Amino acid sequence: RRSYMHVDGRYQLAAVDDRLFGSFVEHLGRCVYTGIYEPDHPRADGHGFRQDVIDLVKELGVSTIRYPGGNYVSGYRWQDGIGNPASRPRRLDLAWHSTETNQFGLHEMEDWLAELGGNELMEAVNLGTQGIQEALDLLEYCNIPSGTALSDLRRQNGADRPFNIRMWCLGNEMDGPWQLGHCDAIDYARMAAKTAAGMKQLDPDLDLVVCGSSSHAMDSFGEWERTVLEHTYDYVDFISCHAYYQPHNGDMESFLASGVDMNSFIRDVSAVINSVKAERHSDHQVYISFDEWNVWYQDGEKSKNPEGIDNWPIAPRLLEDTYTVTDAVVFGDLLITLLQNVDVVRSASLAQLVNVIAPIMTEPGGDAWRQTIFYPFAYAARYAKGGTVLSAPLESSEHHTNLYGTVADVNAAAVQRSDGTLAVFVVNRSAKGDNQFTVDLGESASYSQVEAFTLHDDDSQAANTAQKQERVVPYRNRTAVIENNGRQGCVTLPPVSWTML
Ligand code: AHR
Repeated sequence: RRSYMHVDGRYQLAAVDDRLFGSFVEHLGRCVYTGIYEPDHPRADGHGFRQDVIDLVKELGVSTIRYPGGNYVSGYRWQDGIGNPASRPRRLDLAWHSTETNQFGLHEMEDWLAELGGNELMEAVNLGTQGIQEALDLLEYCNIPSGTALSDLRRQNGADRPFNIRMWCLGNEMDGPWQLGHCDAIDYARMAAKTAAGMKQLDPDLDLVVCGSSSHAMDSFGEWERTVLEHTYDYVDFISCHAYYQPHNGDMESFLASGVDMNSFIRDVSAVINSVKAERHSDHQVYISFDEWNVWYQDGEKSKNPEGIDNWPIAPRLLEDTYTVTDAVVFGDLLITLLQNVDVVRSASLAQLVNVIAPIMTEPGGDAWRQTIFYPFAYAARYAKGGTVLSAPLESSEHHTNLYGTVADVNAAAVQRSDGTLAVFVVNRSAKGDNQFTVDLGESASYSQVEAFTLHDDDSQAANTAQKQERVVPYRNRTAVIENNGRQGCVTLPPVSWTML
């Protein structure tokens, strides 16, 4: 089994936007409480932020953080999370059947981001149980320097300077029947258009994200995008896509090819964007914010939502999936797919960051460690950020899958970096055997050195756990060589593996 990538630096697709490496912190399970915030933890600082987690988040290399939800935002009163923590109300969180103590809110998130290194906040407004006025109030609180009731309230609460938040989500997954305040496309489109227009009246320099579909498989997919964009096109800058993948009925071949679905999802949404743009004779370009993506074992979910009128736990263990090598290969392929579409995807958020379907796990009072999916993200963030994706044709041996028909064994993206090096991210989706992968520079350039790092295990279900935190880590792939007078970089990709060359 063989595959070839043809690279020529003159053929560029688009620059990699830093926002492609965003992640997501939702008030859900233990993402916030005992995840990023745990005042009693031995490694917590004066703010209550776990420094072991901050170190890992920095190593992961995430950019933008989407906050505070997710389904949570559709019942959230943002005012609950400001002011003296001792006076903040405890509330029911209907999305996750939990109690929210509100000890962590907007100011704590801003402080946490400052500790992280000034990462951008992507704030979501509640369009489930709230509307335009609450969105405008929140925007005034965050972005107006001073001299109004809400901006002065922010200053009294300790933030003299405005938060200056540029990216805003207009609600979350409003197409989903599970969403608090769920509505049909036309109702959402009208609400989103009014809210977006008002927000831009207050602060024209915003990047607004309107809700697209919560998955490619939604019955309303396509029609939802068209209706929403027809109403909001002039006011918004992004439309969201969300996608989670898992094996169905043990069909690992199809699961390993999940990137095929993500790719067609992106191309479909892009087609609707361009069709609405053309109908409107518009010069404005709307891009995709793929602001929830990951592997998520929704069918096999061990930690179901709590139930019962008297059972609303604080920070229960929810969605704490343990990721295998196979999951990391699918995950790496999803990231490759995002890179292959940087001409239309200008923002993305890995869902989520800590404990909840997350690359980073923690124990309360205990350790923090890296899941298998941590590595493809950390390598890509480190080596692709600031680079340019090349239009690099790929030829690969193929195999059959039940869900997607014939698919390529190998998928890859090539990024030209500003220091003159080339980073190629590649997966072997096939369980059938090794693949001899060649990156051919043709006459355009030649290699002086080639290195490769691979994530693979003979046990494709191997995972990192609290007991074995480094069971799976990338290793230097010593099969990487230069051939054909410096023209070709070649590496052997083991079955079900992710590699960076
Ligand atoms: O990320 C977990 C949940 O998945 C989010 O809250 C929601 O937006 C999506 O359905």
